[in-house]
Amino acid sequence: MPVNVSTFIEEIARRRTFAIISHPDAGKTTLTEKLLLFGGAIHVAGAVKSNKIKKTATSDWMEIEKQRGISVATSVMGFDYGDYKINILDTPGHQDFAEDTYRTLTAVDSVIIVIDAAKGVETQTRKLMEVCRMRKTPVIVFINKLDREGKDPFDLLDEVEAELKIAVRPLSWPINMGQRFKGVYNIYEENLNLYTPNKQTISDAIELRDINSPELERHVGGSDAQKLRADLELIAGVYPDFEVEKYLAGDTAPVFFGSALNNFGVRELLDCFVKIAPSPRPVQAMERLVRPEEEAFSGFVFKIHANMDPNHRSCIAFVKVCSGQFLRNENYKHVRLGKMMRFSSPTAFMAQRKSTVEEAFPGDIVGLPDTGNFKIGDTLTAGEELHYKGLPSFSPEMFKYIENADPMKAKQLNKGIDQLMDEGVAQVFVNQFNGRKIIGTVGQLQFEVIQYRLLHEYGAQCRWENLSLYKACWVESDDAEALENFKKRKYQFMAKDKEGRDVFLADSGYVLQMAQTDFPEIRFHFTSEF
Ligand code: G4P
Repeated sequence: MPVNVSTFIEEIARRRTFAIISHPDAGKTTLTEKLLLFGGAIHVAGAVKSNKIKKTATSDWMEIEKQRGISVATSVMGFDYGDYKINILDTPGHQDFAEDTYRTLTAVDSVIIVIDAAKGVETQTRKLMEVCRMRKTPVIVFINKLDREGKDPFDLLDEVEAELKIAVRPLSWPINMGQRFKGVYNIYEENLNLYTPNKQTISDAIELRDINSPELERHVGGSDAQKLRADLELIAGVYPDFEVEKYLAGDTAPVFFGSALNNFGVRELLDCFVKIAPSPRPVQAMERLVRPEEEAFSGFVFKIHANMDPNHRSCIAFVKVCSGQFLRNENYKHVRLGKMMRFSSPTAFMAQRKSTVEEAFPGDIVGLPDTGNFKIGDTLTAGEELHYKGLPSFSPEMFKYIENADPMKAKQLNKGIDQLMDEGVAQVFVNQFNGRKIIGTVGQLQFEVIQYRLLHEYGAQCRWENLSLYKACWVESDDAEALENFKKRKYQFMAKDKEGRDVFLADSGYVLQMAQTDFPEIRFHFTSEF
């Protein structure tokens, strides 16, 4: 049933759709679980399974399949917290699936970054932050594992600022760490939360607006009280006051400290998060900016999840609702195919359950059962010709020629490759010199997954042939003649991507650098959108 306008506006305003990102092992799964506990979505710790594919499992197919199953269940975790509707979008734990994470980031309105206090900023966090920066996504940082010895908090702030290239503003502050960890002072709420290690329950915060009150000594002892006062003074002197607008613009990241495992500092994070994090924001389509409050429904596919059952090649397409109210059994336009479609069993994800829904609002994710109609980036509308811009493809880091290992199954192999690429598993390029197909990925594991899925879902066998390439980059020029000349000179290293665009395959960093110097009229791009 369509809702009235004021309900519609309220539904949008109370939604918070975000992703938690981190380097593996920093505590993303643990934090997710604690947030679900607060939302009453689960009742015991340990209920959320990590979707990490353990490093040792690279050739354990059952494990990968099992993990894929788990990640469907936890793809989106929706729950109510107070007046807010929270949608947490899960991202793969294994870095070989980083592309998946990049795409999920197109569907969120904000991000929480988890950092291990002992390890500081790690590679995967750095890469993911680049995507957030590109999209101006507001981020909050949670520095985790304060119950263990870690780096000095001021050093951590400097590191985050330098490595993630974003201004920071602490909104909570730890009192010691490791064995001597006593709690956090919540700068945002002006209260003190004393640490009691406990995985299931949470302690109440003690209001302490005046940090100079002797009450502080009573709770944390003389030397820690003095240290906290000095730290807070330094923070006030060094960091400008927190401004929500700067956070929303993606310029400043508020920072919280805590221990997800001990459920400590998590409530401070969540309470502040729901207050300051953005509700669904306007989304840029190729044609125009689309506001969530618009009456007509629109949304885009940001993820496709293949069914685990190889006998039914059905998928779930995950659609982020960008505007209007989505209704079950309503006719919507699949813009790329130019056809109207109806969805009789759209699913929503509440906590860890999947259920058919009648409606969804901007900020929500609906899962649409699909048998091959959708590709990543497809737009659905109430009728308008709109095209949402997905995230560009990134230049892959590993390459292999893919060869048919069963001549009778060439058709199946090609179909399988096409569909897996549409699903966004990897990228395919066709070498213009020898006509061979090259698969580009961000990690070794993806080659194994592709080979396995081709066999089990398409009955096709493939063989890999190593190809030592440094990078594939998209090339273009305003000068058509110069581009033709470049392509002629580099004819052995030219390929086309899925959309038929020119791609240069550089076999070393040196070759790429030389090409950039020798052909100044050519522009080399490391993402597919330029
Ligand atoms: P991830 O999803 O980011 O990869 O990390 P995950 O939550 O799985 O956490 C990685 C490890 O760090 C887990 O230990 C987890 O228990 C631990 N951890 C998370 N938060 C904290 C914290 O605040 N303090 C401490 N001390 N440890 C924390 P594990 O041994 O790999 O797994 P498990 O056997 O405990 O499940």
